[in-house]
Amino acid sequence: MDSFFITTPIYYVNAKPHLGHAYTTIVADSMNRFHRLLGEDTYFLTGTDEHGDKIVQAAEKNGQTPRQYVDTISKMFSDLWPNLQIENSDFIRTTQERHIKCVQSVLQKVYDKGDIYFGEYGGHYCFGCERFYTEKELVDGKCPQHETKPEYIAEKNYFFKMSKYQDWLIEHINSHPDFIRPERYKNEVLSLLKSGALEDLCISRPKTRLEWGIELPFDSDYVTYVWFDALINYITALEYPDGEKFKKFWPGVNHLVAKDILKPHAVFWPTMLKAAEIEPYQHLNVHGYWLIKDTKMSKSLGNVVEPLEMAQKYGVNAFRYFILREMVFGSDASFSEEALVGRLNADLANDLGNLFSRSLSMTHKYFEGKVPTPGDSGEEDVEIKKLGRESMAGFQQCFLDAKFSRGIESLWNLVRGLNKYIDSTQPWTLYKNGETSRLGTVMYVMLENMRKIAVHLWPVMPEASEKMLEQLGIDFCCEKINLAAEIDIWGLIEPGTELARSSNLFPRVDLSAAEKPEKQKTAKKNKKAAKEESDDGFADFTDFQKIDMRVGTVLSVNKHPDADKLLLVKVDIGEESPRQVVAGLAEFFTPEDLEGRQVVIVANLKPRKLRGEMSQGMILAVRDGDKMQLMTPSSDVSNGCKIS
Ligand code: MSP
Repeated sequence: MDSFFITTPIYYVNAKPHLGHAYTTIVADSMNRFHRLLGEDTYFLTGTDEHGDKIVQAAEKNGQTPRQYVDTISKMFSDLWPNLQIENSDFIRTTQERHIKCVQSVLQKVYDKGDIYFGEYGGHYCFGCERFYTEKELVDGKCPQHETKPEYIAEKNYFFKMSKYQDWLIEHINSHPDFIRPERYKNEVLSLLKSGALEDLCISRPKTRLEWGIELPFDSDYVTYVWFDALINYITALEYPDGEKFKKFWPGVNHLVAKDILKPHAVFWPTMLKAAEIEPYQHLNVHGYWLIKDTKMSKSLGNVVEPLEMAQKYGVNAFRYFILREMVFGSDASFSEEALVGRLNADLANDLGNLFSRSLSMTHKYFEGKVPTPGDSGEEDVEIKKLGRESMAGFQQCFLDAKFSRGIESLWNLVRGLNKYIDSTQPWTLYKNGETSRLGTVMYVMLENMRKIAVHLWPVMPEASEKMLEQLGIDFCCEKINLAAEIDIWGLIEPGTELARSSNLFPRVDLSAAEKPEKQKTAKKNKKAAKEESDDGFADFTDFQKIDMRVGTVLSVNKHPDADKLLLVKVDIGEESPRQVVAGLAEFFTPEDLEGRQVVIVANLKPRKLRGEMSQGMILAVRDGDKMQLMTPSSDVSNGCKIS
């Protein structure tokens, strides 16, 4: 039997769980359920990261010992997950004995091999990042993340010979195109690896400075650097080196992280594995950041979204659906209650909810609430079955490729297609005209397709999916489902099965302005205040950092149907689908001048319509008198490379 192992980052216990943590863990849960439906043996790991300076400081601030503090916050994470219908197989904590032992055994192995050495090091240490920075990496002498002045620390420490594995890593990434996905993150890692020599990694902290960590097995005056400790959790849980679980699940391992921790996962971890003579992981799946109305979520702005609050307000399943559907995996997404309610009303209440309530009530009206026996298929039935096959195949392929939003979109082609099928076959007219056999076929086609939709939705909305099936008279049993076969199998819903009388899975929600939570209003105020403060004409580094500029290749160019000066330019920037940019370049370039050229685009410019056409970015160009030149790299680079 194939196996599948999915991991989330282990979360720091210095803050309560928020939307970002919930998203990653819900994606992991939904991947896990998807692979269960494929009949695979799966293992789903999450947990908490509990060592390091940050935790000690947070505990002190709270007037607790580190031990008391980590126990309290870790429990908040483990208690939250069942409330979001997350079913993890294991919950690991880095303070557990099993983990301490595993970290020490890996350290010893790498040390014995000669890949760890003792050396003197002086560097600029940022306590927020828990790492040393080189002069080159600092911005105006400050940490680029925290904008604080790091402390210069010179001390003796242990180093992992990471640099030794640089060429191997580049070669591994190049020969395994899906090792890091989506592609833009692969490109980011490759350019990072190629741009400067990879340095060795300082993997210890003297106990004189930090005691809250795992002691080095070969020097009791030192504890392990928190990242070297944390990454090993992924193999601790499988009982590395001898556990059966390790043998079974490691070959199918998929890590899931956001872009903030790309480097430790894409560079430290594979080189650590190589040094410990463990096979590299199969995929590193990297997603973007949830922003709140285009601003970073932060305690000081008062805009932190609490997942449980959202789930209680709108329903866990609607919340899960929204975040999986709204974020294009790999890109940043914006969270707002308005957008959530919009999707809930349009996709769930209208499209899916209506399909269920209409079909159930018609079956009751025309066939006493029982699944009818179908007659011969007509053209419309063949068409809708074909749409069903395509939409389910699309869903499944996208879930395999970590393109969740696109997968759900594909399934919705069937949901919407079925609503249209009802409108065009008009069961009420068939009933009025006494065309019972045809009516039976139409109702059967609908109900069987609805069964398939419900099954596919289990990874996304577990409880709603089970309820939908229950309404169709089916007891959900994961082991009995063969999702891959569902694409072609027809006729599993049995004629004569009794259906529920009605369905009201997703009632519509009205979000009146008055109902807006206090928090969001405060967040707006704070944002305004922050803006006023910084209106001094200068862009500080964080302003600059916000701008995401990427290189892309122009795939095609068309004239704007409604504006002479504008062109519709399709640009490939290494994402799932090309971007359309509406550019004011028609006076200077013909479509042929642009096609095939590399350009630089501002990729995170808020999408907007220009004369009725959506523009998802801006092409950079420079004007000199009446001439216009495109900004372009001096020689070809991979699409999606970031300008920095
Ligand atoms: N402890 C380390 C991870 C060690 S893994 C071996 C850590 N912890 S963290 O608490 O900071 O979690 C970071 C992760 O939380 C991100 O990679 C992502 O999974 C999730 N998110 C936190 N904020 C997020 C957003 N605003 N948006 C999306 N996910 C983000 O780093």
